[in-house]
Amino acid sequence: MRQDWIPLNCGENGVKNKWKVNCLDRHVQTCPERVALIWERDEPGTEVKITYRQLLELTCRLGNLLKRQGVRRGDCVTIYMPPCPLAVASMLACARIGAAHNVVFAGFSSEALADRIRDAQSSTVITVNQGVRGGKVVDLKRTVDQAVQNCPSVQQVLVAMRTENTVAMTDRDVPLEEEMMKEDVVCEPVAMDSEDVLFLLYTSGSTGKPKGLVHTQAGYLLYTSLTHRYVFNYHDGDVFGCVADIGWITGHSYIVYGPLCNGGTTVLFESTPVYPNPGRYWEMVERLGINQFYGAPTAIRLLLKYGDEWVQNYNRSSLKTLGSVGEPINTEAWEWYHRVVGDGRCPVVDTWWQTETGGICIAPRPSDPEAEIVPGMAMRPFYGIKPALLDTEGEVLSSNDSTGALCISQAWPGMARTIHNHHQRFTETYFHPYPGFFFTGDGAHRSKEGYYQIVGRLDDVINVSGHRLGTAELEDVVNQCPGVAESAAIGYSHDIKGEGVYVFVVLKKAVMVEEDVLAQQLREMVSRSIAKYACPDFIQVVRCLPKTRSGKIMRRVLRKVVERNTDELGDLSTLDDPDSVHEVISGHRRLC
Ligand code: WT7
Repeated sequence: MRQDWIPLNCGENGVKNKWKVNCLDRHVQTCPERVALIWERDEPGTEVKITYRQLLELTCRLGNLLKRQGVRRGDCVTIYMPPCPLAVASMLACARIGAAHNVVFAGFSSEALADRIRDAQSSTVITVNQGVRGGKVVDLKRTVDQAVQNCPSVQQVLVAMRTENTVAMTDRDVPLEEEMMKEDVVCEPVAMDSEDVLFLLYTSGSTGKPKGLVHTQAGYLLYTSLTHRYVFNYHDGDVFGCVADIGWITGHSYIVYGPLCNGGTTVLFESTPVYPNPGRYWEMVERLGINQFYGAPTAIRLLLKYGDEWVQNYNRSSLKTLGSVGEPINTEAWEWYHRVVGDGRCPVVDTWWQTETGGICIAPRPSDPEAEIVPGMAMRPFYGIKPALLDTEGEVLSSNDSTGALCISQAWPGMARTIHNHHQRFTETYFHPYPGFFFTGDGAHRSKEGYYQIVGRLDDVINVSGHRLGTAELEDVVNQCPGVAESAAIGYSHDIKGEGVYVFVVLKKAVMVEEDVLAQQLREMVSRSIAKYACPDFIQVVRCLPKTRSGKIMRRVLRKVVERNTDELGDLSTLDDPDSVHEVISGHRRLC
């Protein structure tokens, strides 16, 4: 390993700022004209390439603009933008001036955005006038306008122009391109401690509001760059195509920080897997010469339904590694990805990790290139990761061929350090369930051979198309509906989305409402409060929910009903009102 590549914390007297320039300056010194970003815009064939020199310039101008606008070291800037070079430059500009960024996925509603801005106490928001996705224009600035109405901390909104359409600007709004062009292309990076905050990223938990996980400077960068290089077998000159959104941790770690720290060329995908047709990914692979493709099982499952031709129409000989992330990949999807997309010659790396872990923790690679990869298995812990499986008593399961709660037994560089403003929630969520271990919230199986397979969440978190959704968060919204007394949201297996959402609703006494009308109302509320992906697929009105005598909703029972496993309801003797279960079963919708 090259010495100069390790983030060096040089301290006050060390080589000036050397370690903070890892993603840009040092590559500009050695290869300024290398392409850093390929912005794969919505319309195929209209990609824009940005070199390291250009990205450093954009970042410096933006850094200077942020400083001129009063952003200081330690502040937190919220970024609400689709994948585009200015979004990356905004993240890096924050890092450069010592501010934290808080990127919010641009599919979140204004209320969800407002929650995150308020919790982060941002005075500055960066957005675009409009987004463009799947041929449609999305009014992102309008969403920001609605959000900031309820965010007293916000003093200014920087607006970049993704489309040529003008949008209403207020006194608070700053035209981003116009103002940044007035700035100098040199912006000295600020010296930060290795444990200072790099960014916040909100994610759903099983209780309460989404939590702002905090990642720090040196450990995060080291971990993302190492995993990017070794899990995907990334080499200088490769084109890395991660098709996630920058609003998720996958985008932070494997579109922005990992690849850029490694001096790589990284793709920013603005479109959808089916625009303008289901061949989009593979046409893009051919056109851009992508070497590593990193995507989500939900998209693979969707595409395989359209047939092999959409893949075979394009030349995929550039591909070397195929990655999967976000949810378990079923064998059928894995096989198709391997056989059809990769022509049977590219290793498929199913990578398990979380917002909390910062980077990949379990994956088939690195390992001997000839080492076996079992379909649908994340397989091997990354260097420095010590997984442990624990049983319900909190005992470590030391033998192979066992299943338990997936924990990690020692710290690693990329792990989140806290939840913004809620350190107690951090320790309670991750360190109290199994004292001495970091608890991931997932269950896992360790095979006879010692390989890991992720089973799924053990807590009340649903994974919809790779997006995390807390049942409590959803129920909170549903319960705000005037006719609703209480509700329970349950995940069920869905052949494209991985999990779908099924909501049981108890109406207030004397409320009469058509189920269709109620369903429509609830869907609107959920997309307004959270995001479209969180909308329930099924809503069932019930007289009461099965509860224990102490008043806890028996989710286990509801889950069985939804999965139509009513023969295996288990012990119902602790139920307060056993009849409630039969009623729930008889009213249960057939899932398609
Ligand atoms: C949860 C984390 C990791 C970045 C994207 C999601 C599930 C993630 C896998 C996988 C099975 C997976 C887990 C995890 N998950 N990758 N390869 N196999 N499950 O990040 O939103 O923080 O979600 O996604 O349940 O806990 P996230």
